[in-house]
Amino acid sequence: MSKKKIHIFDTTLRDGEQVPGCKLKHEQKLKVARGLEYLGVDVLEAGFPISSPGDFQAVDMISREIKKPIICGLSRAVENDIKVAAESLMHAVRPRIHTGIGTSHEHIRYKLKSTPDAIIERAVKAVKYAKSFVEDVEFYAEDAGRTDNKYLARVIQAVVKAGATVLNIPDTTGYCMPNEYGDKIAFLRDNVIGIDKCIISTHCHNDLGLATANSIAGIESGATQIECTINGLGERAGNAALEEVVMVIKQRYAEKYKVDINTKMLNPISRLVSDAMCMMVQPNKAIVGENAFSHSSGIHQDGVIKHRENYEIMNPVDVGVDKSKIVLTARSGRAALAYRCKAIGVDLGKDELDILYPKFIQLADQKKEVEAHDLLPLIESAIGIQTRA
Ligand code: KIV
Ligand code: ZN
Repeated sequence: MSKKKIHIFDTTLRDGEQVPGCKLKHEQKLKVARGLEYLGVDVLEAGFPISSPGDFQAVDMISREIKKPIICGLSRAVENDIKVAAESLMHAVRPRIHTGIGTSHEHIRYKLKSTPDAIIERAVKAVKYAKSFVEDVEFYAEDAGRTDNKYLARVIQAVVKAGATVLNIPDTTGYCMPNEYGDKIAFLRDNVIGIDKCIISTHCHNDLGLATANSIAGIESGATQIECTINGLGERAGNAALEEVVMVIKQRYAEKYKVDINTKMLNPISRLVSDAMCMMVQPNKAIVGENAFSHSSGIHQDGVIKHRENYEIMNPVDVGVDKSKIVLTARSGRAALAYRCKAIGVDLGKDELDILYPKFIQLADQKKEVEAHDLLPLIESAIGIQTRA
């Protein structure tokens, strides 16, 4: 069976950069964009050109320099936004304008102070206008997650007729449960004529911690593009994390789907983005957190030392981490202590380990973590093995 290609649309430099404190200078943006190109993203959303002259320049600069991915610029369903986005993308090899409007009851009534029919008219006008500049036009139905499915299908039907090539169904507020989001995509797939000629895209926010699960539910219902960010950065609780959706597909759906991502770059690019944006990655973050491949309790350590797969479902090397870590704490057992001593060149016999272990536990109770440099004096004082030449 041939595998379905899932397009990875990275919005670290747009949705991610919207986070307070994450604003990047031009040089930093270019560095991240180069990293994303090397990572293999299919689409790179470079910014929101109308929002500031700086953002315009950044999209222009990335369009001139980065040649492999499609370069995308965001706009509202407003003529001038679209025109400015088109200008900023002028030098892109494959430009895409991303335009759209709110479609939920809340957005139509309280934000746009409009009516459902008028919103459809604006959406169609925006797509047609964007098509006068570029062939590739992505439409987003903002707050699609809370939009009534029948009305959403009318909006999407109208923009498909107007020439949209990609249909973004954002769960802007992170409201949907995975089954609801999956059903929404399936409803559109089954009720919009001509949708099979377009790419359906997921864009899930993480307000309830469901962004990755929802993106995957979208794929299972027929979407073939996932919008995501490095380290899950983005408005409020963030967007679906690129590293998570990619590894879910690689680890659990490899027979059905493929992504063209160089996964060994996942940890390096996570650090690059974290450093550039001064946004620390939480230690227990999946795939790229400091503890993602660390083992600290005795039972787990013993299991990993015997056979790594006992407690790891992926190989750290595949995501750019040298190897799993055995961390020495007061919860560690003898197997871990022996393993770490061996790593510094001291191969202990059973009797030596019996002497060393209680001393190690005493020290571990005083310290959060016993490190390699703590082991040397401990071994010397407990069993007199000379560890220093
Ligand atoms: O979350 C959202 O709806 C967005 C759109 C602008 C695509 O970021
Ligand atoms: Zn968003």
